[in-house]
Amino acid sequence: MERFLRHITMLTAATTVLVMAEGYTQADRIADMQKMAQAMQDIQSGFFYNNVDIVKAGTKVLKNTIVNVRPIDSEVNNKDIYEKWLNNDLKMTHKIQKKIKKKATVLEERFADGDAIQALQEYSRIAQQCMKCHVRLRKW
Ligand code: HEC
Repeated sequence: MERFLRHITMLTAATTVLVMAEGYTQADRIADMQKMAQAMQDIQSGFFYNNVDIVKAGTKVLKNTIVNVRPIDSEVNNKDIYEKWLNNDLKMTHKIQKKIKKKATVLEERFADGDAIQALQEYSRIAQQCMKCHVRLRKW
């Protein structure tokens, strides 16, 4: 009986994990992408208008949004695509997420310090990370 109950608990836990992994749709991901594209534009405007608040608002959105990016439900449900994600793309995604978060922090620090040139360089490094995923994952 005890063993049976433990089994049920484990099953429930597994279901919970499955449910948590779901719920990220293609529409969600497109919305996140558009949010990040807008954030990049805002950062650029902040540079040109020399406004650190606009830059910081942009990096905040960028950092909060990039962490959402992950395989969508249809990819999770497609065993072949999901396995590819797990093997390669998830690792790449996590690396890119870490890099973008770090570079966004350096960017806002440099700009706040008055080093606009260095801030712009970080901006271009972030754009490179965006494109890295697009090229590899999407073959764009
Ligand atoms: C881990 C991979 C990955 C990273 C990193 C990534 N993207 Fe994307 N991006 C995608 C995928 C996948 C799509 C296609 C979404 C879809 O149609 O399902 C996409 C689509 C887009 C689109 C088109 C959205 C539309 O309206 O169709 C824009 C704009 C975009 N990304 C901007 C960005 C920006 C800006 C960054 C960096 C800050 C970025 N992406 C980083 C994977 C990524």
